[in-house]
Amino acid sequence: MTGPSRSKDPEGNHEKVKGIFREIASDYDRVNRIISLGQIDRWRHRLVSIMDIPEDGTVLDLGCGTGKLTRLIADKVSDGKVLGVDLTPEMLEIARKSLPSEQEEVVEFSLGAGEDLALQSNSFDLATSAFTLRNVDDLTSVISELRRVVRPGGKVYSLELAKPDFPGFREIYRFYFDRVLPLIGGLVQGDSKPYRYLAESLKKFPDQYKLQDLYRSAGLAEVGFHEIFGGIAAIHQGTKKEH
Ligand SMILES: C[S@@+](CC[C@H](N)C(=O)[O-])C[C@H]1O[C@@H](n2cnc3c(N)ncnc32)[C@H](O)[C@@H]1O
Repeated sequence: MTGPSRSKDPEGNHEKVKGIFREIASDYDRVNRIISLGQIDRWRHRLVSIMDIPEDGTVLDLGCGTGKLTRLIADKVSDGKVLGVDLTPEMLEIARKSLPSEQEEVVEFSLGAGEDLALQSNSFDLATSAFTLRNVDDLTSVISELRRVVRPGGKVYSLELAKPDFPGFREIYRFYFDRVLPLIGGLVQGDSKPYRYLAESLKKFPDQYKLQDLYRSAGLAEVGFHEIFGGIAAIHQGTKKEH
């Protein structure tokens, strides 16, 4: 299912992103549970419940990180394949170590970049990512790549932090990301820098409506999103048209 990694990095951003995730890899799951106020696993479960995963399906999890979502997907697949791809070797190492033996037949992990996947076109039923799109340099290329690798009729999903537009809630949310989150990250992990990066990456990232437009521009049909937790996060989906 995989080929050699042929990641390209036109903006030189991959090294920076890898550096950040290398630094936080060992504490990533623990810190995320704390900063999401225990919600992150529920959100991943929600994504999996929305995804229409066939038992014999082939599923790509882009930016699989420590493999939490990959393992949830693999629980639904008994006779197919789940491929987790990530840019950061240290995150993948944790994903590999955390894989239960009963999933070894179904799951594969591979190093690679979402902007230029070394994967055949039309080779997956579904492609998904969680909290990854925000980190990529070229969002348009990544969504196009996710579309390319799914078969006609296949679906692309993503779970990302979004931007609540409810007045009051919106301000609390910004304060939390700008001020509270780097503080908690600093206290738990001893370095607030990666969590300041998280707040910054979120500012640059399109809101749920613009992300929906990007799905459409990439040629996906039946595009829509579900908001989670008052618009703090959103799950997007789109379908690759049959020819
Ligand atoms: C915030 S973590 C999310 C991990 C996992 N999906 C989860 O649910 O916790 C983002 C992951 O995306 C990876 N990543 C960032 N940019 C990437 C890219 N351009 N291509 C592939 N993976 C990327 C990082 O190495 C990191 O492991």
